[in-house]
Amino acid sequence: MTARRPRLLDRHRPAPAALREELAAGLLAETPRISPKFLYDQLGSRLFAAITELDAYYPTRTEAAIFAARAGEIAAAAGTGCTLVDLGAGDCAKAASLFPALRPARYVAVDIAVDFLVESLDYLQFRHPAMDITGLGCDFSSRLELPPEIGPGPRLLFYPGSSIGNFSPDDAVAFLRQARAASQGGGLLIGFDLVKATAVLDRAYDDELGVTAAFNRNLLNVVNRQLGADFRVADFRHVAFFDAAASRIEMHLEARADLVVRWPGGERRLAAGQRIHTENSYKYTIDGAGRLLAAAGFGETHWWTDDADWFALFWAAA
Ligand SMILES: C[S@@+](CC[C@H](N)C(=O)[O-])C[C@H]1O[C@@H](n2cnc3c(N)ncnc32)[C@H](O)[C@@H]1O
Repeated sequence: MTARRPRLLDRHRPAPAALREELAAGLLAETPRISPKFLYDQLGSRLFAAITELDAYYPTRTEAAIFAARAGEIAAAAGTGCTLVDLGAGDCAKAASLFPALRPARYVAVDIAVDFLVESLDYLQFRHPAMDITGLGCDFSSRLELPPEIGPGPRLLFYPGSSIGNFSPDDAVAFLRQARAASQGGGLLIGFDLVKATAVLDRAYDDELGVTAAFNRNLLNVVNRQLGADFRVADFRHVAFFDAAASRIEMHLEARADLVVRWPGGERRLAAGQRIHTENSYKYTIDGAGRLLAAAGFGETHWWTDDADWFALFWAAA
């Protein structure tokens, strides 16, 4: 008997010229920026998995503790036997931890990092030989649409880890509206990182080992490859801090000296101390998260937190 293989639908085939245009436009903007979606090449995906192991990075273990403590209630709210669609699946570990409670009929893992996704799914299929598993390579930052090949709804969309915080609140509502439509009458299971002491937040995004710094600075290697730029990673330092007024963590790459970055057809001068903005991570209150889901058109919700109220998991009916 041959072993079952996960099915791959690779819809992430960006035109190299379009990627170069997007990267150059960001670097030439008044406040230079690089989209966080470029963080996840093969090394970046592995560095993110390492971040989730850090003591300083509380979101992963706190969310996992909520899953473990509330698995029965989560399954009662969300239902069992669903098509489980994991948005930004990464190593798929979180969804897999819910398999015993949710007993999905089908698992669809969606991610922009297609090679890393394939590796993760091969391992997952090995551990769950009977499970119907599909990988969907796509970039959902501009539009979330699920192809009919993944099977009919209703679907349970899974968006853990507070990845929703990478969108501005307005863009988050727009994304959640698309998620609601894509669930075809199902629901959404989503993690929100909650506002807490600034020192806890700052440490989670700037750990002593420098793993998050490596994750952020690796972005320059990605830009060098995709755009043909000549960034020297050593010329940049990782900066991350909580902006309480905006209720978000900001990540930046700061030039250590006056320098010029060049690529075919363009260049950008940066003064010492000038920053390239690479990621935001918005932090919510329970009420704020509920309002976001309501603004996106979701109906009934249930939510669970940990003892310290550091993280919240919401289920919302489409
Ligand atoms: C912060 S990691 C979360 C991984 C995992 N879900 C977790 O919670 O630990 C974000 C994941 O989303 C993927 N991702 C980021 N931007 C994306 C985009 N625009 N479209 C699809 N996937 C994206 C990344 O490759 C990465 O696997």
